[in-house]
Amino acid sequence: MAADAAATVGPVRLLRADALPADLRLDDDLLVEADSLDVLPRLPGGAFDLVYVDPPFNTGRERRLRSLASVRDEHGDRGGFAGRRYRSRVVSDLSYDDSHEDYLAFLRPRLEQARRLLASHGTLYLHLDYRESHYAKVMLDELFGRDCFLNEIVWAYDYGGKPRSRWPAKHDTILVYVRQAGAHHFDADAVEREPYMAPGLVTAEQAARGKRPTDVWWHTIVPTRGAERTGYPTQKPEGVLRRAVAASSRAGGWCLDFCAGSGTLGAVCRQLGRRFVLVDVNPAAIAIAAERLGGEAPARPARPARAGT
Ligand SMILES: C[S@@+](CC[C@H](N)C(=O)[O-])C[C@H]1O[C@@H](n2cnc3c(N)ncnc32)[C@H](O)[C@@H]1O
Repeated sequence: MAADAAATVGPVRLLRADALPADLRLDDDLLVEADSLDVLPRLPGGAFDLVYVDPPFNTGRERRLRSLASVRDEHGDRGGFAGRRYRSRVVSDLSYDDSHEDYLAFLRPRLEQARRLLASHGTLYLHLDYRESHYAKVMLDELFGRDCFLNEIVWAYDYGGKPRSRWPAKHDTILVYVRQAGAHHFDADAVEREPYMAPGLVTAEQAARGKRPTDVWWHTIVPTRGAERTGYPTQKPEGVLRRAVAASSRAGGWCLDFCAGSGTLGAVCRQLGRRFVLVDVNPAAIAIAAERLGGEAPARPARPARAGT
């Protein structure tokens, strides 16, 4: 679905770069196809409970996800049950550029805006990996103040190839900063509990209730055949974002993702009764997010060729 200059899909308003008003009012949820730096200055300061952003990780290469389906073809190159032949057909081929000459110069003005947009009780979640997280932390200490650092969350997963020459890198880092030290909203009881690692060491009652998650989040990647799978490369699991949104935003509060990809933050906001603004420069991302949030579910790939993180 292409984003019209200003259209409404369900309760979401779609906007495109060439039709951005000088001031973006927060009434409908928004899905904006534009460079985030053109959008963020138009949003009202102090309006957001939470900013979650999962920018490109600066891997130095295009991030691409081709999804394949098997179709019957008597001349196909693959054999199947009862002598049937099949060939693979590409059902979607999505990508975005992930190579930045000066990555911090890309991030800095956007994070300055993120700070301006947060309410005094608001919180930033910046999702990165080992390539840039340390440099970004130093920058956020400078922009937000070291006293506004709340957590370094490790999202650990176990999927994909494992090199034998080093420890396989199987975690992302989410840096968490609050707008104003000591004033931030954090609802520990709103977060879904998880099983104890050693339930034999706690009472049966505690084991049944589960434990509150710590700053290390074991969570699977988006399953290749899972219902939430959109086919967008590097799509993040709703379960990971759900923790952040549940803990750090209030019911009905506004949340922002300015590198929104397939719209995972919007999907989670819907589940938890929050409002959202999603921005992405890639038309393919906005089309997927629009379908996910406002229209019919996207067609499911029968056999994704490669999974993102
Ligand atoms: C890692 S992906 C986000 C994936 C998303 N969290 C999800 O669950 O689908 C990063 C996104 O940032 C977008 N992006 C890169 N540069 C951008 C910019 N200047 N403004 C807005 N979006 C940008 C890319 O198009 C890509 O969709």
